[in-house]
Amino acid sequence: MAFLQMRDRITTHVEQRTTMLAGVSHDLRTVLTRFKLELAMLEDTPEVRSLSADVNEMQHMLEDYLAFAKGDGGEEAKPTNLRDLLEEIYEESQIYGSAIELKMRKRDEGLVLPLKRQALKRAITNLVTNAARFGDNIIIRAATEGQWVRIEVDDDGPGIPPSERENVFRAFYRLDHARNQDDGNSGLGLAIARDIAKSHGGEIALGESSMGGLRDIISLPL
Ligand SMILES: Nc1ncnc2c1ncn2[C@@H]1O[C@H](COP(=O)(O)OP(=O)(O)OP(=O)(O)O)[C@@H](O)[C@H]1O
Ligand SMILES: [Mg+2]
Repeated sequence: MAFLQMRDRITTHVEQRTTMLAGVSHDLRTVLTRFKLELAMLEDTPEVRSLSADVNEMQHMLEDYLAFAKGDGGEEAKPTNLRDLLEEIYEESQIYGSAIELKMRKRDEGLVLPLKRQALKRAITNLVTNAARFGDNIIIRAATEGQWVRIEVDDDGPGIPPSERENVFRAFYRLDHARNQDDGNSGLGLAIARDIAKSHGGEIALGESSMGGLRDIISLPL
């Protein structure tokens, strides 16, 4: 009885915190949007430009908090062509400036499976933005394997040592080589990606890429 009561208290507690986080992020985002409009009306000076950069950084962090609080936002899984989705991510990732390749076997190109398209796009984009931050070369691969489809993102950056590969999935957890960078990253990208993989009945794991950097592996059931 006491245990069940404790379980309920914890559930309520977590729900309240999540709701508050979402509320705060949402309200701040509204104000930030106003900041951006106001800044756009000012003269283009180095100070204004630097302030704009800070506002953009803050917006990026808030979007992360919101996405984390929302999970997959209750999106429904719909039949989706995986190749189309990956191509969209590939196209949009050109702006990061790393060389990026998309590889998929001919026989998997017509693969359609039930996906929460927006959520999965966010998850893979989180992996690709990490890869682009740490590496100069990125390869996105997708292949079916028995009852699973594996989506891999490889880079040629410093990678993550095996002892840290579970820790980095924790919310707000960042490694040393990134800790002192004031770069607007909040340490939520992988936590969000794992949530989304799990909400598809799948998983996400980390390993070493053939280029010496990190390999992120998302496995989804077919
Ligand atoms: N491809 C990678 N190569 C090397 N280290 C990585 C890579 N991807 C993630 N990491 C390490 O794992 C940490 C957690 O990654 P995660 O994506 O969760 O957070 P973040 O990128 O710091 O912030 P956010 O994604 O919220 O903007 C990063 O801070 C970084 O130290
Ligand atoms: Mg990230």
